[in-house]
Amino acid sequence: MSSYDDLASQALAEIEQADGIDALDALRPGLFGKKAALTEAKKSLGQLDPEQRKEAGQALNAARQQVEVAFETRRGALAASARTEALEAERMDLTEYLGSASPGHAHIVTQTRDRLEDIFIGMGYSVAEGPEVESAWYNFEALNIPEWHPARGSFDTIFVNLGEPEEVMLRSHTSPVQIRTMENQEPPIYIVCPGRVYRTDTADATHLPAFNQIEGLVVDKDITLGDLAGTINQFVKALLGDDIETRLRPSYFPFTEPSAEFDIRGLDGSWLELGGCGMVHPYTLRACGIDPEVWQGFAFGFGIDRLAVMRYQTDDLREFVNNDIRFLKQF
Ligand code: PHE
Repeated sequence: MSSYDDLASQALAEIEQADGIDALDALRPGLFGKKAALTEAKKSLGQLDPEQRKEAGQALNAARQQVEVAFETRRGALAASARTEALEAERMDLTEYLGSASPGHAHIVTQTRDRLEDIFIGMGYSVAEGPEVESAWYNFEALNIPEWHPARGSFDTIFVNLGEPEEVMLRSHTSPVQIRTMENQEPPIYIVCPGRVYRTDTADATHLPAFNQIEGLVVDKDITLGDLAGTINQFVKALLGDDIETRLRPSYFPFTEPSAEFDIRGLDGSWLELGGCGMVHPYTLRACGIDPEVWQGFAFGFGIDRLAVMRYQTDDLREFVNNDIRFLKQF
């Protein structure tokens, strides 16, 4: 009987030494299988006389049970620590940016847009917005760009497959918002319309197929080209500093007459084209139910993204949409 105890304590020692679930499971045949010492011992019980057999059988069962309990207990403990290890190893550290000094900030283009809005709000304007999917009426026709007009082609419009062909489109400029505002609001009107616009351009250092414009519109009495030039000069200085000069150059837009392009001159003396502007065409005022004999207006529009390039001296528009945190963090 004492040999059962020896068998048991040898088994317990092996169980204790197993340092993982797999090692423990590998012991199973040796402990409980057909050839296991405790199994063999059971077979030899038959050779004992009945009196001894009973006692020996009980002792053997007790030994075997002790080993089984030890095995399952050890297995449970090994499984638990394997699970803890696995959880620890696969743990995801989601605190990487939480602990940093910077909680993040507005995108460089958003900052530029916010700054522009602030400047115009300070000049008495309000901010107007409109849909990014537009009809031909708002994107073209009310702006004096009928179907046959060559300017229609120059906008490289992205059409949406809805309704009549070329009737629904992603707006190719923010000018539709002037139309919507003039349709709904009595003059005097002083608004800026910032927003995303779309053209079929391929992305390169100076173009993006989706970019941001801001358009200004004033409709009031006795508004002249001088008011337009003064306004442009004023906001450019507010945005970029008092040293920056502006100029207007004659140009053409169907919805303004006269039309101009406006440039800014930086500290290095070179002129940079910023956007288009002009006196709102009487056709467009009339299309919105405004009497051009009573009211006059001016409008201007330019790209926010390109302005951000100038303001922050970056060199590739695509950086704005790559969302590389190392780039964005700098601004
Ligand atoms: N909408 C014009 C464009 O995108 C810019 C513009 C706005 C020109 C207002 C004149 C007046 O090209």
